[in-house]
Amino acid sequence: MKIWLDGTLRDAEGARVSVLDHGLTVGDGVFETLKAVHGQAFALTRHLDRLAVSARGLGLPEPDLDEVRRACEAVLTANPMPYGRLRITYTGGLSPLGSDRGTAGPTLVVALGEAQRLPDSTAVVTVPWVRNERGALTGLKSTSYAENVMALARAHERGASEALFGNTVGALCEGTGSNVFVVLDGALYTPPLASGCLAGITRALVAEWAGAEEAELPLDVLDRADEVFLTSTLRDVQGVHAIDGRLLPGAPGPVTAKARRIFTERAA
Ligand code: PDD
Repeated sequence: MKIWLDGTLRDAEGARVSVLDHGLTVGDGVFETLKAVHGQAFALTRHLDRLAVSARGLGLPEPDLDEVRRACEAVLTANPMPYGRLRITYTGGLSPLGSDRGTAGPTLVVALGEAQRLPDSTAVVTVPWVRNERGALTGLKSTSYAENVMALARAHERGASEALFGNTVGALCEGTGSNVFVVLDGALYTPPLASGCLAGITRALVAEWAGAEEAELPLDVLDRADEVFLTSTLRDVQGVHAIDGRLLPGAPGPVTAKARRIFTERAA
């Protein structure tokens, strides 16, 4: 397996980042996950744009998007596979111990791993922890994912594959690695970016193609929704058939199935 690290392709085995990298010591970095189908990264430009937005948000040096694009293409060419997860990581780089950034400049890593198509529906749980919709990292795809890791572990302990967060005002927000949509009385809704969710690329495409409205939704909407589904780069459109152990009969329902079909035809 070849990865890209700081300007060149290397064997993944031998590639090393400093133990003083700010991404490791204080989670100072941003990332992107892309779907790669037969060597083609889906929505590469949108992902590069979001990487730049996240980097700017953290005050990291502006990433050279031409280099990041070249790195993605080089990694994809060097590691042919039918279906993969392409990961871009861009961190504060080698730094003194502590929270100040060093002067060495950022670290860029692009890596690729095999991925699997996921089932068309899944179980989710809700977690008591909340997303801060006014936090400094809100809406940025930063590498500080410890809360997401904890919530996802809780989901797995309970036989689910995703955990859903509310926010500080009790509104539905998003999953640990996905956005959420609900169907109420035949209409499709997704929480607005002001809820604190990530501006998911799948979310934007599904909202446009399947005609969803943004709406602030109280968390208990999950008890009343006709259908619930998740969107993300690796889930595409994935129905929800259980929430906190309560089964949703008939999932994935007709609106979910239609959104999944439209998305698959155009993008997957
Ligand atoms: N996750 N919300 C969060 C917190 C995410 O981490 C992600 C992406 C999404 C969906 O965004 P998109 O449709 O652009 O993938 C929403 C990626 C897949 C990950 O966890 O690696």
